[in-house]
Amino acid sequence: MEPDEPGEALTELRERRLGALGLLQAAAGSGLAAYAVWVLLLQPGFRAVPLRLQVPYVGASARQVEHVLTLLRGRPGKTVDLGSGDGRIVLAAHRCGLRPALGYELNPWLVGLARLHAWRAGCAGSVRFCCQDLWKVNLRDCHNVSVFLAPSVLPLLEDKLQAELPEGARVVSGRFPLPTWQPVAVLGEGLDRVWAYDVHSGSPAGQVPPGPSSASVPGAPTSPAG
Ligand SMILES: C[S@@+](CC[C@H](N)C(=O)[O-])C[C@H]1O[C@@H](n2cnc3c(N)ncnc32)[C@H](O)[C@@H]1O
Repeated sequence: MEPDEPGEALTELRERRLGALGLLQAAAGSGLAAYAVWVLLLQPGFRAVPLRLQVPYVGASARQVEHVLTLLRGRPGKTVDLGSGDGRIVLAAHRCGLRPALGYELNPWLVGLARLHAWRAGCAGSVRFCCQDLWKVNLRDCHNVSVFLAPSVLPLLEDKLQAELPEGARVVSGRFPLPTWQPVAVLGEGLDRVWAYDVHSGSPAGQVPPGPSSASVPGAPTSPAG
């Protein structure tokens, strides 16, 4: 209905303008809040990392963690999660007997959270979370490596893994496959999918050498790379 009086029309116009202004303020407010969360909680530690290597935090799904562990279960040697976030993979690895288990994480808030989770789980003294840049850690003594990183950094990661990991080491990559390596096992669907790779120092870029090799993981359903 149209307002009858000029006074009413003016009031209505003011209310409408206030509504639009309120909307604008809400949008600016949430933008500012998101920026504050980014600067205070997510960005610390990343200042020294080139922009193209920065990977934001997204926790692995419960299924994803389960698949990572299925592909690593029973393996000896040190297990590391590169970019360990809140520590869920490291803690789950420790729980299923993969020891020692440790995480490298650049964000100090997440390292603190992971340590808190470890303390609450009663294994603070048995797992380690290091506030360190994964690109600066030498992986020569790591036999089981878990990664859940952005596709943009995976080509560079392949080179690092191939150069540093010992013969027979296994890498499991969550959600995104390593771009050129041939997986020995693939588990799960969609966002929960995990790929396993075995490192053979004689062959290029994690390719499995010909012959009856470690082309399967006991107990794990395998499917071709995809
Ligand atoms: C997608 S999250 C995965 C977190 C955890 N691995 C999980 O599966 O729940 C990637 C993590 O890597 C961390 N990260 C990214 N770049 C890093 C770097 N250069 N050194 C150490 N951690 C890094 C991020 O802070 C983030 O916590």
